[in-house]
Amino acid sequence: MILVTGATGTVGREVVRRLPPDGPVRILTRRPDRAGDVADHIEVAVGDYGETRSLERALRGVRRVFLVTAGVGGDDDERFLRAARAADVRLIVKLSAAAVTNPGADDAITRWQRRCEALLRASGTEWTLLRPRAFMSNTLAWAPLIASGRPVSALYGTSLNSCVDPRDIADVAVRTLTEEGHEGRAYTLTGPEAVSAAQQTACLAELLGRPVPFEELDPARARAAYLRRYPEHVAEALLLGAEQQRDGAKARVEQTVREVTGRPARSYAEWAADHLRMFGSGVP
Ligand SMILES: NC(=O)c1ccc[n+]([C@@H]2O[C@H](COP(=O)([O-])OP(=O)(O)OC[C@H]3O[C@@H](n4cnc5c(N)ncnc54)[C@H](OP(=O)(O)O)[C@@H]3O)[C@@H](O)[C@H]2O)c1
Repeated sequence: MILVTGATGTVGREVVRRLPPDGPVRILTRRPDRAGDVADHIEVAVGDYGETRSLERALRGVRRVFLVTAGVGGDDDERFLRAARAADVRLIVKLSAAAVTNPGADDAITRWQRRCEALLRASGTEWTLLRPRAFMSNTLAWAPLIASGRPVSALYGTSLNSCVDPRDIADVAVRTLTEEGHEGRAYTLTGPEAVSAAQQTACLAELLGRPVPFEELDPARARAAYLRRYPEHVAEALLLGAEQQRDGAKARVEQTVREVTGRPARSYAEWAADHLRMFGSGVP
């Protein structure tokens, strides 16, 4: 049995879609109504990282896990790893972040991901770490602006990020969950090239066939925008992460998607073309 956590989220949802239909799969969610229509071979376990009993139930009979946690600074990983050890789980494939390998990154999100990685390595359960660069899907946050003709804005908008398609992360995750030989490996996952927010905006404009204005955001406005969406420690971490990107720390391209899956990583243009209707393309 494979347990997919974060199964209603960006990456986990794609992992569930890709797992072979002949193996038993269970998904963990707090809100089963959000899971949508699940295939017949998929079991739904209702659970919350904050409730150990629900994790014990979800982990019964599970041998492999795709682990996604999102509570920055929290102790969800501790609780989950204890329950997984007690349930005799053999392998945990954890969604982490590329920033953990950057010695210059010392923000709250990266410190939390490093701590979670260390806990997993010391847990006694076999592990594989997936360390993606920024998700291409983060640009979906621009969709309401673009649909209503307002400018897209970003902090350090001409700095480069080798962002990755969540479908490629999921493809790698499925390989690591279903093949032997990925235990003890840490995979940094990027797209095929580094692109800036301004270039992503231009790409969307070309695909949509209409202008999409782009504006540089100054740090004070960026802080205010982050604080409207996130708690302060996360907002400050995102600002520090943007400074790392400004200084060139997020531009390196890795070949890991190709090495693990046997085909090249998808470009931002491919991701954008496949999600264009979410930007108000008029295509149903
Ligand atoms: N976005 C990026 O650019 C980026 C880059 C690198 C790394 N990451 C890392 O990727 C991870 C987030 O992945 P994602 O974007 O795929 O997820 P997401 O779309 O943010 O969704 C979060 C998932 O976590 C589940 N979840 C949250 N709290 C939970 C709880 N208390 N108990 C059980 N499940 C819980 C949610 O399930 P329910 O709501 O259904 O319960 C949901 O499926 C984070 O660790 C982040 O640091 C993100």
